[in-house]
Amino acid sequence: MQSNIKHVLSATDLETIRTHIATAQWQSGAASAGASARSKKANEEMDQGSESWKAINQLVVTQLYSHPVFQSMVLPLKVSAAFVSRCLPGMHYGRHIDDPIMGSLNSRYRSDVAVTVFLSEPDTYDGGELKIQSRFGPVSVKLPAGSAVAYPASSLHEVTPVTRGERVVCALWAQSMVRDAQQRELLHDLDEARQALHQSTPKAQITTQIEQVYANLLRLWADV
Ligand code: NI
Repeated sequence: MQSNIKHVLSATDLETIRTHIATAQWQSGAASAGASARSKKANEEMDQGSESWKAINQLVVTQLYSHPVFQSMVLPLKVSAAFVSRCLPGMHYGRHIDDPIMGSLNSRYRSDVAVTVFLSEPDTYDGGELKIQSRFGPVSVKLPAGSAVAYPASSLHEVTPVTRGERVVCALWAQSMVRDAQQRELLHDLDEARQALHQSTPKAQITTQIEQVYANLLRLWADV
């Protein structure tokens, strides 16, 4: 299941990022695609050797990693660099599945969770919906700038053609300490319950009990 993470980036962060985007160098996105996705990819990506990219990457990865909802939902062990992707009118990314193993030879990671951080406001472009296939059918996602969606990287997904404006997003992947998506979902639900109890009845026996169950389930399911 996909989940939205609000306010990953502040208004100030977005302003900084837009300054960098305005002067960025872009190249064809096909170069970074896995073999199965290459022919479906019609987008542009920011040159990862550029100073603009380094600044954006640093900001987005730091803010995402420190976001409490991302931590609770993803339980990240490794987080990739942020690929900054742009679709202009006519560009899209056809239905595909992400590579299971990513990274360079010495820093491989398994892509358990895919994350898209939206950098363009939804009213500045038409089309460009992220369509994710879920157990309950396709879900279309187009979020305010600064928000993110996290979904199992095993899901089929696509970006529909942009018909007006410019869609800029950051795409990242995480290897989770818990590889099974259903287990991650249960842990996230339990973590929310645990936090609510911690707020309402911090000294109650039930609070301690739920804390214990969360900690021991995480111990049982996590690989580090
Ligand atoms: Ni993808």
